[in-house]
Amino acid sequence: MRPVYAVSLGPGPADLMTVRARNALGTSDRVFVQSRDPAWFDKVIGEFVPADRIRMYLPKAAKWGLARGDPVNDVIAGEIADLVRAGKQVSVAAPGDVSFYSYFGYLEGPLARRGVTWEYVPGIPFLTAAPMVVGNSFVEASDTLVVKHVSSISELDALFAVASVLVLYGIARDLFPQIREYAIRNGIEYARTVWLDASEGSSYAADLLAGEQEWRLGFSIILRRRHPVGAD
Ligand SMILES: C[S@@+](CC[C@H](N)C(=O)[O-])C[C@H]1O[C@@H](n2cnc3c(N)ncnc32)[C@H](O)[C@@H]1O
Repeated sequence: MRPVYAVSLGPGPADLMTVRARNALGTSDRVFVQSRDPAWFDKVIGEFVPADRIRMYLPKAAKWGLARGDPVNDVIAGEIADLVRAGKQVSVAAPGDVSFYSYFGYLEGPLARRGVTWEYVPGIPFLTAAPMVVGNSFVEASDTLVVKHVSSISELDALFAVASVLVLYGIARDLFPQIREYAIRNGIEYARTVWLDASEGSSYAADLLAGEQEWRLGFSIILRRRHPVGAD
């Protein structure tokens, strides 16, 4: 049986997807995608994967981290196993890097139980693509980086006890004003929200500290506390 390709789509722009990822998608009979935003996938893969080869699915759980136990993972793994047994090439594609905070991990167990194997096709995650729009690097040699989902501001103190840079993934919109207040109160020197889009010119970063209005539409958040005295 052929291995399934676990394909990283990168942060959106077509030329930030690897050649290997494009080849994997282009040679696949079926591409599985978990999506709440079909428009994003249409922009990223629509150009070279015909719509009738794309199988979109969605778990019931909308909240971060709750999709692991969703029955849809087993259903999808069953569909994939049937296709693979029939000699088809299957891909599962995910935004950013497919192994990094990605739903492919939820399929690994159900696929393994069916004897299906997979091959990773790595890609650029959103956090390393962010400098495209924030305009500067935000992790240096003296930094400790934590990438985390938080559901409450009360988690931030413990994170800043060990990290100098936080990249927050999956943040609910209603937390943004509280994160801004936290950053101001605690002298966080750098607080940006980042939205990366597939379309040229529509990605942006907004400065939470400056109260830029667009941050309401933001997605990932980067927070950086002041460097120790003497550090650059
Ligand atoms: C399930 S994780 C996927 C992470 C992805 N696999 C990666 O390599 O970065 C979803 C989170 O990625 C970030 N993300 C997804 N799409 C984004 C976008 N267009 N711009 C900025 N961040 C995004 C958000 O923090 C979102 O909550």
